[in-house]
Amino acid sequence: MTIRLALASDHGGFALKQTLKTSLGTLDVDIVDLGVNTADAVDYPEKAHDLSETILSKKADLGVLICGTGIGVSIAANRHPGIRAALCTDPFMARMSRAHNDANILCLGGRVVGPGLALEIVSAFLEGAYEGGRHARRLEKIDLK
Ligand code: RB5
Repeated sequence: MTIRLALASDHGGFALKQTLKTSLGTLDVDIVDLGVNTADAVDYPEKAHDLSETILSKKADLGVLICGTGIGVSIAANRHPGIRAALCTDPFMARMSRAHNDANILCLGGRVVGPGLALEIVSAFLEGAYEGGRHARRLEKIDLK
């Protein structure tokens, strides 16, 4: 089944989002581009909330959120119950975020990782698979009752 992958960034992640959009076009993914579409400044929580709602409403399966460091978008996205946004700086983290944390959003820093590494991180995220089992019990403990 083709993965529907939503992409969104602020101005700090715009260049990397555009590069990834082009590179990922060669893979078996349907890209849902939620912007931004220019390098004009925009407040990163707006993009994080847009993409989180896109995942929660099942308009996309997984998402990639990019700001300058990846920190702001990860903090904002993780305010949404049901969103598990993982800020990753290498492919191992990305693969493990799927395997152990069932992450549904990958956060990247456009001013932190270069385009080659970023593509390897996204590929690892897409290839990763949730292992369930003991990890399911731990996921259930994340949301405060
Ligand atoms: C924007 O300058 C920058 O603060 C933003 O992209 C992000 O890095 C915040 O965490």
